[in-house]
Order: sequence, then structure tokens, then C-alpha cells
Amino acid sequence: MTIELALRDVRVAYGAVEVLHGVSLAVPTGSLTALLGPNGAGKTTLLSAVAGLLPLRSGQIVWCGNDVAGVPPDDLARTGMLLIPERRGIFATLSVRDNLEVFAGRGADLAPAFDTFPILERRMTQLAGSLSGGEQQMLAMSRALLGRPRLLLLDEISLGLAPRVTRLLFDVVAGLAECGVTVVMVEQYLSDALRLADLVYVLSRGELAFAGEPAELAGRDLPGYVLTG
Ligand SMILES: Nc1ncnc2c1ncn2[C@@H]1O[C@H](COP(=O)(O)OP(=O)(O)OP(=O)(O)O)[C@@H](O)[C@H]1O
Ligand SMILES: [Mg+2]
Repeated sequence: MTIELALRDVRVAYGAVEVLHGVSLAVPTGSLTALLGPNGAGKTTLLSAVAGLLPLRSGQIVWCGNDVAGVPPDDLARTGMLLIPERRGIFATLSVRDNLEVFAGRGADLAPAFDTFPILERRMTQLAGSLSGGEQQMLAMSRALLGRPRLLLLDEISLGLAPRVTRLLFDVVAGLAECGVTVVMVEQYLSDALRLADLVYVLSRGELAFAGEPAELAGRDLPGYVLTG
């Protein structure tokens, strides 16, 4: 097993307030790793630090064997890291087609997005901001389908969506992982993400509260969660 991404004793602060207190974790190449935790645990902060959007107070982030702390986000994106942020990262005032062309390049083949999400083809000329929440998330996820990243970081793609839409998106994520994309999927709730994940980390108040396989979570008492099933 090779390790795609490793965090070593990572500390991140906003000004004087430290919110990640020495987090260490490893993401195997080609795995689907779930990063779970209640509101405010530091999940978005962690993904932002990995994507180069926030500086580290201390520690290391090693991607494909290289320490990437301090590497600009654009350089990470160019070499195959893709973050789909919590608020979706689409351009609300552009049409669906223009969004897809921003992601893939003008004149690019958009079929991989339309084959997976036919609704987007029917909405092609509509402004992205006027799509439903689920359609907006499909549009955001199209970025991964068109760009085929090496490392895909997903921040709560299920937020506010109907279970049916969440299932569709999660199936797309699982398909990408099956094709060899390494995925780190942040979710607040335990249930659906666990079905897909090879490995689970639970973050609580800026520290790891659990690391292991999904089955090992059963019966654990985790801070901020009531576990069922
Ligand atoms: N820009 C910021 N400035 C100051 N504090 C921040 C900032 N962003 C986040 N925080 C604080 O850092 C902590 C972790 O926030 P973060 O957004 O990483 O949590 P999260 O696990 O993603 O939560 P959620 O499930 O609500 O998205 C919280 O206490 C939050 O208030
Ligand atoms: Mg968040």
C-alpha cells in the first residue's frame, strides 16, 4: 500500500486561535477516505490547509512523497489536486455550459459530465445560480469528472441535499475511486459516507478522535455524535 497523502502533526491557526492541534493521518493511494466530525471540528480547515489555502503553524503535509506545505494552491491544482469546497465553487452568474468550459477548457468534450448528470445538459444555458442545490452540486462534481484529478478533496457534498441526490453523488464519488482517484470525503454525518469508505478518520475539536476501518466504528462513543446501527 502506498500513501498518497500524509499529515504529520499539523497545526493550523486563525490568527492567535489554533483550531487544528497536531493532526496526523495517512490516506492510501486509490482509497476513499472519509473525514468526519461535528460542526466546527476543523474539517474544512484541514482540507483548506491540504489544498494550500491556509498556512501551517507547524507540521508537514506530504503529497506523493513531497512536503507541499507552502506550495501555492494553483501549483497543487495543476499537478492533480482538486478541492470541491463546501459552498460548491461554481460561478453563479455564468451559465452551466460556461462553468463546464471554465473547468475543462473551451471546446472540451463535456460528455463525461452530461453522461453522468443528464439534467445538466438540459440546463446548459441556465445560470448556475438558478439551479437547485442538487444540480449545483452535480455541476461542481462535474469538475472532477472532466478533470480526472489524482487527489480529490470533497467538502460536505451532501450538505442540504435530498437523500436521493446524495446517493447519486456518492455513487459518482465511488466510481471515481474505483477508477483510481484518491478521494478524501468530508462529511458531517456518519451514515452514508461510511458505506463507501475504506478508511475513516473522525475529527473532534481539532484533534483526531478515531482512525480505522468503518466497521470498527460500531459501538464507539465518539464526541459530538450519537451512533446508531
Ligand atoms: N476564517 C476563520 N477565522 C477564524 N476562525 C475560523 C475561521 N474559519 C473557521 N474558524 C473556526 O475554526 C474552527 C473549525 O472550523 P471549520 O470550518 O474547519 O470546521 P468544520 O469541521 O468544517 O465545521 P462544519 O461542519 O460546520 O463545516 C471553528 O471553531 C471555526 O469557528
Ligand atoms: Mg466545514
